[in-house]
Amino acid sequence: MEALSRGPRRSPAPAFASVPRRTACAPGSSSGTAARLRPILATRATTSLPVRAIKYLFGRARWFMGGAAHDAWESVRGKRDPLVPPRRHIFIGGGDFRSTGHAFRQLFVDLGGLSANDDVLDVGSGIGRIAVGLTGFLQGRYEGFDIVGSGIEWSQRRITARYPNFRFQRADIYNKRYNRKGRWRASEYRFPYEDESFDFVLLTSVFTHLLPADAENYVGEVGRVLRPGGTCFATFFLLDDGALQRIAEGRSAPSFHVQGDGYRTIRKGHPEVAVAHRLETVAGWFDATGLMSRTIYPGSWSGRSDGTSYQDIVIARR
Ligand SMILES: C[S@@+](CC[C@H](N)C(=O)[O-])C[C@H]1O[C@@H](n2cnc3c(N)ncnc32)[C@H](O)[C@@H]1O
Repeated sequence: MEALSRGPRRSPAPAFASVPRRTACAPGSSSGTAARLRPILATRATTSLPVRAIKYLFGRARWFMGGAAHDAWESVRGKRDPLVPPRRHIFIGGGDFRSTGHAFRQLFVDLGGLSANDDVLDVGSGIGRIAVGLTGFLQGRYEGFDIVGSGIEWSQRRITARYPNFRFQRADIYNKRYNRKGRWRASEYRFPYEDESFDFVLLTSVFTHLLPADAENYVGEVGRVLRPGGTCFATFFLLDDGALQRIAEGRSAPSFHVQGDGYRTIRKGHPEVAVAHRLETVAGWFDATGLMSRTIYPGSWSGRSDGTSYQDIVIARR
């Protein structure tokens, strides 16, 4: 089966070219995890684990202190943006909060055809980074859900209070990285929305933290809540022959050197830190839920020099 058709290697629209490559989730580049781990992973062949762990902890402490100082300085000068959370509360990765949200909004419009009047579902809405990027543009209904309570509370307080068409709710689902005490399994979770109630469903840097059974169920749920003709915009780390080759050559970040059961990760015993799925497997999930018309825009994570964004983007229509 020819899985998913390829998008142009470079986005044809000038707007893509100007979108920072490394927007897909993380600190300074990659998925939050990936970017934080990049320096550690880069030295994995030569440095022992305890040394890497200490370096990592120092890096985190420096980031935390620096963030707090920056926030305090902005507050003193009266320059705190009310729609940007304090840096120490941001758990979704680094990078500039506002410009990442904006860059994604541009991609939703340019690649996914998002319209201002669409009803949008943001699965894994985090701490509102994507929602903030959509404020001032989206007139339709926006629903976001996530498994981290602090992100939902912040989003309700800061975003819903100003934009009542934006609503957020928490789902207490287990994920080893984000919600270790979660009650429900993602592999069995039914999104709390009616069938065919959205025009556009987006998942930015969420499948990259889900194991295959969880991701498969989520693709099915996306198909259920999308209206006929609706669009799914999702980011992944997709494993095809080219990506596997570049991983073997050490050109990818994350390294994805750990083989899981039907996926790859970077940390044995804690795979949700970063998950790469096989392209054919993902295509099978989309087929099964009727999301047939698909385009992939490969990202730069696997070492390609021509990625549209950092993670691979899959656009599918119902
Ligand atoms: C890297 S962050 C991306 C957040 C947001 N999509 C963004 O781009 O700003 C990954 C998000 O996925 C959420 N997540 C993890 N497992 C989830 C699940 N089973 N259902 C919904 N969200 C989940 C995490 O809580 C976290 O907010």
